[in-house]
Amino acid sequence: MTVRTDPAVASELVRASPAQLFEPVTIGSLAVPNRIVMAPMTRAFAIGGVPHEEFASYYRRRAEGGVGLIVTQGTWIGHPLASNNPGVPNFFGAKALGGWKRIADEVHAAGGRIIPQLWHVGLFTSARERLTPGSAPNGPSGLSPDGARLAEPMGQPDIDEVIEAFASGAVAARELGFDGVELHGAHGYLLDQFFWSKTNRRRDRYGGDLVARTRFAVEIVEEVKRRAGREFPVSLRFSQWKGQDYEARLFESPAELERWLAPLVAAGVDVFHCSTRRYWAAEFEGSDLNLAGWTKKLTGMPTITVGAVGLDREFTRRGELAQPAWLGPLLDRLARGEFDLVALGRPLIANPAWPELVARGAFDELQAYDPDQLKTLT
Ligand code: PHB
Repeated sequence: MTVRTDPAVASELVRASPAQLFEPVTIGSLAVPNRIVMAPMTRAFAIGGVPHEEFASYYRRRAEGGVGLIVTQGTWIGHPLASNNPGVPNFFGAKALGGWKRIADEVHAAGGRIIPQLWHVGLFTSARERLTPGSAPNGPSGLSPDGARLAEPMGQPDIDEVIEAFASGAVAARELGFDGVELHGAHGYLLDQFFWSKTNRRRDRYGGDLVARTRFAVEIVEEVKRRAGREFPVSLRFSQWKGQDYEARLFESPAELERWLAPLVAAGVDVFHCSTRRYWAAEFEGSDLNLAGWTKKLTGMPTITVGAVGLDREFTRRGELAQPAWLGPLLDRLARGEFDLVALGRPLIANPAWPELVARGAFDELQAYDPDQLKTLT
């Protein structure tokens, strides 16, 4: 099932000095022991919305393996239209929250930090099948990216309910002892549907130019901060690419990105988790900075990069075998201060102790990523 790294490749991997991955960093009020983040990844093993004991072992194992900050898989906020997959755990309700408390406790006992990712899919296309004529208003304009009318646009009461559900999730996270929260604002899900001009055709204050389209997320961040506390760290994950369209773009220039970021910084985002499918890709012409690099340069805020780190193949939803790849270019960028933290997904599925293996230069022990590894929660 798994494939060992070719010894010739392993000796190449060794050339990179990974020391800077192991320097501490702070995100707002949160001290993170190193730069390695576990990326949020869907693991649909919940039963009745509850993350059971195996989830606690799954996350604890990554903390024991040396991950500095775990961002949990996306979890459903307490809103009737948030979910498109019953196997994904809830972040509301006594039973699910009991499971999450155990996860936070076990990760902390292993010396890790952990924040849940709060998620609402909105009108993501894979949510289509649950839509029936007369189904509840959903999405900023009720539209799919190709312009099909799937539901009524969300009215102010719907918007208020979703803001409240995100804030309640953050309050629960704080009460359970989590180290912050991440808001899923990426990949074509609800927050991103407001950001994206194709899916947001509103004429009220939640629609219009790039800045107006941040208003919904801004109000969520503000309410999270008001209810969970100004000091409670908030990460915002965002992306140009969408699950339905890898080539989609919200920003065509650094100036556009800067205008979009400013209201989110003002609202209190503590760290931007800049989702790209290849961390080495230049975001705009004329500079080799990636999205996390530009975001840090334009705001001075901490940023997390992500995208095929340590692997020879970018993410696709289909899933493909991926071999360990040289970390040199990543470490050079980190050393230059282009971004502050580095998220890994698939390498941490294949190698729960990836940080520990890399710290001691045991590159020949790194396992390749194989989509079959997703069949169990280990
Ligand atoms: C997935 O389950 O494949 C998935 C979920 C959420 C994302 C990206 C991918 O943001």
